[in-house]
Amino acid sequence: MTNKRIEIDYQEFGSVQELEPQDRELCEAAEKALAGSYAPYSNFNVGAAVRLSDGSIVTGANQENSAYPSGLCAERTAMFAAHANHPDLQMRSIAITGAQNGLLNSGITAPCGACRQVILEMEDRYQRPVRILLYGENGTYCFDSIKDLLPFCFVDSNMKE
Ligand code: THU
Repeated sequence: MTNKRIEIDYQEFGSVQELEPQDRELCEAAEKALAGSYAPYSNFNVGAAVRLSDGSIVTGANQENSAYPSGLCAERTAMFAAHANHPDLQMRSIAITGAQNGLLNSGITAPCGACRQVILEMEDRYQRPVRILLYGENGTYCFDSIKDLLPFCFVDSNMKE
């Protein structure tokens, strides 16, 4: 038996002003998307913004339902809308933010496991890493690929080995 360790690299920015203008714009788009969140059951609002390879931005927000599993997270709302409308454009990055009672969360909002798996599919489908920006009032974390957040991941090729 051998003990193994996994380490990941990511960047932490103290304020959104420290980000590159394009990334700041994406975080601000995710924040604006919070206005479309429908979350009467959790009162937890999530906004997401996807940057596509032509520079355009597609946003989404969480959509809840009285039959709870019928709802959808902000990230998948944004990603599915982006690729349903622009299947030929690659997804380059995604910004995610959360809010409660009208106030942006101070800490980051990290994507759930299902959303991580869908981001992974985008990387696999378009053969390009997707940068992930987790934007909170007190700081933003930036990851270069979903694989940093999803080690030992399952992709299509696993079924062909
Ligand atoms: N939520 C998202 O929109 N994205 C995530 O990655 C985590 C959770 C939403 C789902 C639900 O509407 C609310 O947050 C509480 O779980």
